[in-house]
Amino acid sequence: MEIVICKTKEEASRKAAEMITAAVKKNPKVVLGLATGSTPVPMYKEMAKAVKAKKVSYKQVRTWNLDEYWGLPGTHDQSYRYFMDKNLFDFIDIKKSNTHVLNGLAKDWRKECAAYEAQIKKAGGIDIQVLGIGSDGHIAFNEPGSSLASRTRMVSLTPQTIKDNARFFKKAADVPQHALSMGVGSIMEAKKVILLAFGKNKAAAVAAAVEGGISQYCTASALQMHQDAWFFCDEEAASKLKLKKYYAWRAEGELARA
Ligand code: PGA
Repeated sequence: MEIVICKTKEEASRKAAEMITAAVKKNPKVVLGLATGSTPVPMYKEMAKAVKAKKVSYKQVRTWNLDEYWGLPGTHDQSYRYFMDKNLFDFIDIKKSNTHVLNGLAKDWRKECAAYEAQIKKAGGIDIQVLGIGSDGHIAFNEPGSSLASRTRMVSLTPQTIKDNARFFKKAADVPQHALSMGVGSIMEAKKVILLAFGKNKAAAVAAAVEGGISQYCTASALQMHQDAWFFCDEEAASKLKLKKYYAWRAEGELARA
């Protein structure tokens, strides 16, 4: 794991975006795994800026997203398909047909999940997987208690997640209780992982993921077993790391070599 600690989330987002831009330049057909949530938004803005400045093109890039609410159509303003269109895809030159998000209205969720994994495999696997981290250490919708070997499947959201999401929906009955999510095992197959974490609300989760034991209680801790995982944190999110000075010094050298 490399831990890049920046003064602000803007700086961390810029560095992470530079890593992605460099990868797209090197391989215009790169396969990206993408994430939703508030965390990656500044990085997506940086990626869009690079496209606008004609530094890079996403014309041949293919993407697969981590998860989608069960029961929401992609046109719903809280669906993750909608989020991706409005926060990234509408601002880069990617072909919409090359962007993939799980179908929250699939007739048969098992078939949907199996087909999604098969598509990724056929594309040669995910080259770079973008992740946020929940304050409970989750990655994608792999809540505490998710097997570290889990695959893409239907998951039950925790009461806390359901409560947190209620503000985005008109009625409590509309708040999804389930989602389709790539598993921890699926995520671990990505060749490179970029996890973003900002704010003091994420400090305990980052410390558990990096310096705690590997446990399904904090699913991000599985990344300790990944050979090319990068955490881009602001100082607040990194504040509970015991070895933060060492990580920051080491990452500087690693970034220069990456
Ligand atoms: P956030 O969510 O980016 O909105 O904090 C992160 C996550 O739950 O993965």
